[in-house]
Amino acid sequence: MYNISKLYDLASETAIFLKSQISSQIPDTHKQLALNFSADLETLNSKSLKEQWRPESVVRGLRFSPQSLGNQPTPELRNLYEAARIAFGLVRWTEFYEDDEWSRSFLPNFANGEGFGPDGRIYHNSIILGLFILGPNCVYPPHAHPGEEFYIVLTGHPEWQIGASNQYKEKTPGSVLIHRSNECHSIRTIEEPLFAVFGWRGNISAPSWYRKDMTDESEKKLYPKIRKG
Ligand SMILES: [Fe+2]
Repeated sequence: MYNISKLYDLASETAIFLKSQISSQIPDTHKQLALNFSADLETLNSKSLKEQWRPESVVRGLRFSPQSLGNQPTPELRNLYEAARIAFGLVRWTEFYEDDEWSRSFLPNFANGEGFGPDGRIYHNSIILGLFILGPNCVYPPHAHPGEEFYIVLTGHPEWQIGASNQYKEKTPGSVLIHRSNECHSIRTIEEPLFAVFGWRGNISAPSWYRKDMTDESEKKLYPKIRKG
């Protein structure tokens, strides 16, 4: 049954999970940001924000939904995973990027589902909360953005790079990844798709950028094209 109020449950379960992980897995440099994210999400409790409708489009990455939704979560992830499964049909799914040289390799395997946000099912001008799928054997290439971002891995064993010079590291369900403003990050999947909750705060309207070589700060920034509407 269509029940938009279930998106608020996703916000509260995400806030609870983030807070529960601060002392165990979030580095000191990112702890305050994790607290800020959970405080933001706790403000999404009025249940009176505006629902918005936009034309829907085909999102090819959603063909990985069965593998994303059909897993057995660990006990600590159970409430959040269940909230994400219920929110799956409520978020607004798009491929987010235009097809171009930068996005072409991953876009057919990419699904961005905005629950709260400027383009979300529920309008919010300063917080984004949504769901995310990246199909198997895929690289979401290194990029950055002024907005601050988190992901919580729900299913899959993706490899994650944070910091342009750092190695990719394998993540597991329950991993929390936090990207500070303009911190380079990249995700690559092996044989399983990634299914995650994600959120943005801060300067959420500023565009993402990349360099051909993210370690070379003398290179000019390039901007992926974002899909309109
Ligand atoms: Fe990002």
